[in-house]
Amino acid sequence: MKLSIPTYAENVINVLLNNGYSAYFVGGAVRDSLLGNTPLDWDVTTSATPDQVMSLFPRHFETGIKHGTVTVLWDNKPVEITTFRVDSDYSDNRHPEQVVFAKNFAEDVKRRDFTVNAIGYNHNEGIVDLVGGQEDLKAGIIRCVGNPDTRFKEDALRILRGIRLASVLDFQFEQNTKEALINNKHLLKNISSERIRAEMDKMLMSDRSLKPLYDVCDVLFPELYACFSCEQNNKHHIYDVGTHSLKAAQYANGDIAVKYAALFHDIGKPAVLSTDEEGVDHFYNHELFSEEMAHEIFNRLKLDNKTKKEALMLIKYHSRLIEPTEKSVKKFLSKTSEEFLRKHLALRRADVLAQNSQYSAPKLQQINEIEEVLENVLASADAFSLKDLAVNGKDIMELGAKNSQIRFILNRLLTAVIDNQQLNTKEKLIEMAKNILNCR
Ligand code: CTP
Repeated sequence: MKLSIPTYAENVINVLLNNGYSAYFVGGAVRDSLLGNTPLDWDVTTSATPDQVMSLFPRHFETGIKHGTVTVLWDNKPVEITTFRVDSDYSDNRHPEQVVFAKNFAEDVKRRDFTVNAIGYNHNEGIVDLVGGQEDLKAGIIRCVGNPDTRFKEDALRILRGIRLASVLDFQFEQNTKEALINNKHLLKNISSERIRAEMDKMLMSDRSLKPLYDVCDVLFPELYACFSCEQNNKHHIYDVGTHSLKAAQYANGDIAVKYAALFHDIGKPAVLSTDEEGVDHFYNHELFSEEMAHEIFNRLKLDNKTKKEALMLIKYHSRLIEPTEKSVKKFLSKTSEEFLRKHLALRRADVLAQNSQYSAPKLQQINEIEEVLENVLASADAFSLKDLAVNGKDIMELGAKNSQIRFILNRLLTAVIDNQQLNTKEKLIEMAKNILNCR
């Protein structure tokens, strides 16, 4: 079988092979190619030591020299080259105490996480599969190489890597791998937030079912785990809060902020659950609790400030209903932005799609209508933000307003203009501003 390798990666492996070293593409790139997907990164494993690699490739970075990894650049594209190795003892479930280089690929393969990630390839030998990776790929199985308990104890991130692969590939765990994963999941507590977040991002952005995440939810997100035992006894819902949240995050069509917002938008529900005399469940003000709890989770995950701020605002406003009218859309835009409104609608749509489909048609219709109104508003010359007003801060200051009054007055003018666009002339707005100033 011949895999299609991009020229830059082919050139890199050729340098190693032509210099007498053994070398294979390995890992996610081979796995994804065999599945018919286009890989992003090509990793190579080789008999050349890091020093030998560095002398063969003048353009290189010592990215993980302690683990035998050097990143080389070809046509400005990176290829990670790792020397064949056997990992020795791990004292902390994430760092091998020392790295011992291995003689050949067969030895190197034994230290890899999953069979589907341990398939080698080069154009001389074709596929080199020493652990049954191809069979597992065909059967849709995630199976550790060798002893799963040892593999997970060596590096507990592999537990979440396995969950992510099961989600993204829609694969099932082999029984022993699943048991070891469950037995060792507490070790995820030893893993840095940055590594957890990277796996979460990949899983969320794949748009695949997040069901496998349930198995480690109690360790990673106990707040979300509690949502799985929170039923929602009202006509809008057919899933418990946890299942609804996983589905909403899968269906959310947007960037990573929308995805995180969808995953945690209802996390405050268990805290505010009330049941009326008819036995119907209510979750008044849950979005405020969700925002607060998500804030803590996002800090724990060390989300970057931009994603965190946006996801929290999306959560806070996720139940806010906008009418599909120009006035209502302009008002929302005046307080936020076009980008935020689009994300808000993406979250609302995902939220509805994860509810009882019997009642979803009018809700989805309303979201579509708001989107249409938004396009009309953007295409028109109508004012909906301060910068669209026929006056600016300087004009208001010249009327004698104090610095602290300017924003207030401009916002009052904008509200009036959104109600009646005819008012958006300098003359009329100055007149109104004078009246506001005189009344204060
Ligand atoms: N690997 C491992 N244990 C880890 C991380 C990686 O055994 N904790 C091995 C796996 O064989 C993996 C390879 O190193 O396939 C390369 O790792 P990485 O580049 O992180 O992943 P990819 O293989 O590129 O796959 P993906 O993009 O799906 O993570």
